[in-house]
Amino acid sequence: MTTEFPFYHHLRVRWSEVDAQKVVFNGHYLNFLDTAMSEYWRASGLPYPEGFVHLGGDVFARSNALQYHAPARFGDCLSIGVRCDRIGNSSLVFAWEIRTSGRLLVTGETVYVFVSLETTRPAPVPEAMRLQLDQQRQGAPVHALRSGDWPSTASTARAVRTAVFIEEQGIPQAEEWDEDDALAWHVVVTNLAGLPVATGRLITAGMPKGEAKIGRMAVLNGSRALGLGQQVLQALIDAARQRSIERLTLHAQTSAQAFYQRAGFAPEGPVFDEVGIPHIVMTLRI
Ligand SMILES: CC(C)(COP(=O)(O)OP(=O)(O)OC[C@H]1O[C@@H](n2cnc3c(N)ncnc32)[C@H](O)[C@@H]1OP(=O)(O)O)[C@@H](O)C(=O)NCCC(=O)NCCS
Repeated sequence: MTTEFPFYHHLRVRWSEVDAQKVVFNGHYLNFLDTAMSEYWRASGLPYPEGFVHLGGDVFARSNALQYHAPARFGDCLSIGVRCDRIGNSSLVFAWEIRTSGRLLVTGETVYVFVSLETTRPAPVPEAMRLQLDQQRQGAPVHALRSGDWPSTASTARAVRTAVFIEEQGIPQAEEWDEDDALAWHVVVTNLAGLPVATGRLITAGMPKGEAKIGRMAVLNGSRALGLGQQVLQALIDAARQRSIERLTLHAQTSAQAFYQRAGFAPEGPVFDEVGIPHIVMTLRI
């Protein structure tokens, strides 16, 4: 397979995408491209829509050109390669291709225009967006992780926790914010333009000697499954080690149990209710 594309998204052809000729209907390829583009923006640190709203704009498709080289069939695994070839004043020109098992099926070029949310007119592509895409192309980080006390991390942590715990999960404000924030060590992640995307905290105050508690782990919905949760958790574990902590505990939402298990945490005791959500105690010796 060619390595000319710095980003690939993979998907399998579904039953409903095949036409009477038993091949993928030609119009579906733009949907495949669009699916890949959403993943490309996400992998570039620009989850839709938050990453774009943060830059004050959006991107509109201006033109699509595509050539069909060979048909895809039901069950084929498609690899969709995407590359930003040129950024003009307001335009972004993307080259793309679709292959299955290395065989070239479709090639195309799509032009997007960056549009200001304020004027709804084309606007210069922001420097911050160019940077995110440049970093992605070079395989360099598109996010920045930092840690600190509450005053230095509160605005980022608050933004993520409001989006995830209060708005997405419906946890009441009064249950979300507590006095532990002021005492805890916080890890926060933003994209390079400063969009808050992930957070977590480590509590040592009030815990038995050698023990600490991890909590309030959250990743913005649009930035999940990129490894950010794991990076936050690792940074909290590292911070605990620096404080000579030997045992970490946390209350995991049962839906996230497997996430913590992958990092070595083991479940303990029965499932219980906390803020209306099933939780389980998990621990890790470090
Ligand atoms: C749970 C959460 C923090 C994970 O963050 P994330 O950035 O999506 O996770 P990552 O991309 O770092 O995933 C790391 C690994 O855990 C796995 N994983 C992530 N979430 C998972 C879940 N809910 N169930 C099972 N596995 C999960 C990933 O597949 C990945 O596995 P791999 O390394 O084998 O590929 C995030 O999904 C989230 O904020 N959820 C909503 C709030 C929440 O539940 N917080 C936890 C409160 S206890």
